[in-house]
Amino acid sequence: MTTPDPSSHGDQPPQKHVRRPRYGGTHPRDYIQKYKEHNLQTYPEMEAHLRAKGNTPAGTHIPILVEEVLECLRPASGEIVVDCTLGYGGHASEFLKRIGPAGKLIGLDIDGVELEHTGRRLAQEGASVSLHRSNFAGIAKVLRQENLTGVDVIFADLGVSSMQIDNPERGLSYKREGPLDMRMDDRLQRTGADLLRTVSEQDLTKALAELADEPDAERIARRIVELRIKTPITQTSQLVQAIFDAKRLTAETWKRQRDRLGSLHPAARTFQTLRILVNDEMSALKAFLQKAPLCLRPGGRIGVISFHSGEDRLVKHAFRDGYRNGLYESTAREVIVPGGREIRENPRSASAKFRWAIARSTSAS
Ligand SMILES: C[S@@+](CC[C@H](N)C(=O)[O-])C[C@H]1O[C@@H](n2cnc3c(N)ncnc32)[C@H](O)[C@@H]1O
Repeated sequence: MTTPDPSSHGDQPPQKHVRRPRYGGTHPRDYIQKYKEHNLQTYPEMEAHLRAKGNTPAGTHIPILVEEVLECLRPASGEIVVDCTLGYGGHASEFLKRIGPAGKLIGLDIDGVELEHTGRRLAQEGASVSLHRSNFAGIAKVLRQENLTGVDVIFADLGVSSMQIDNPERGLSYKREGPLDMRMDDRLQRTGADLLRTVSEQDLTKALAELADEPDAERIARRIVELRIKTPITQTSQLVQAIFDAKRLTAETWKRQRDRLGSLHPAARTFQTLRILVNDEMSALKAFLQKAPLCLRPGGRIGVISFHSGEDRLVKHAFRDGYRNGLYESTAREVIVPGGREIRENPRSASAKFRWAIARSTSAS
């Protein structure tokens, strides 16, 4: 496990000046060329400009349902909070404001690159946080390493960050050409391309149907298997083309039929399914939901934001079962979702679902 020490970043030698990438035309188009968005501290006007258009500046992430999360989890001065999916640190910064210098924030993420960036930024803000490059399935082990038997708040904001999805090198977006990597944790052995080379047609059909409710699961799996016999599918554009073929669409016919077919891109469900498989997201979530209540102090609060029905079902059932068997003393009756304004300002929040639960205030006998 790597635990970047945010305080050590100040001792690094000054960075060598690197020439920014050149681009044709008046505006940068590629992720890497958007130098102003990658340096919002130098170009603060850029953030407001992009947000007003409903865009997320490259290299950043807009936190979702912040007010609702704070209202339900009530992080208070001096408390210990575990942010299990630190990402850009948007929720973490808000937790830090509430727990103050007497509190402690423990941040987990499996993405070593973004964990280091966020650690550096939080350290610049003067925050003292303890970071762990760890899967949240290992939350109990992290607490043992911290010499803690329980914490006041546990929070997880599942899925991928905007930094990950917007970076074409990650291969997570059907909108960007890049290698089909799809790993959030680069220590994992198997990439999306490896998976597409080896998965059986039957298993892929099942995963597409079960994890993403893909209506054309069978046809997509069959097309992928047909194509890979001739050429390995290693790039995002090849996968997008395979999906369009399977759905008997072209980019043009889809644009024309969008009103009838809905606004979801034809490749969205397949990309989501492959990402979930590559990162073994459902197993990690199940393990986390099982261990988390045992990591809470009496009266401690847990909250999870999920982004698809399979995840939300697991969270809902875990909290409901925990309530029935006495681990939790209460849980959200209704799922909490973003309002119209949040969705307009941050369209990536559209599918978010938030649920919470509170651990028994007295230890179970
Ligand atoms: C939606 S982002 C979190 C954004 C964050 N709340 C913010 O406001 O910036 C999800 C993050 O969780 C991380 N992640 C996904 N699965 C994980 C897991 N099983 N364990 C730990 N981190 C995980 C991803 O690498 C990503 O950085």
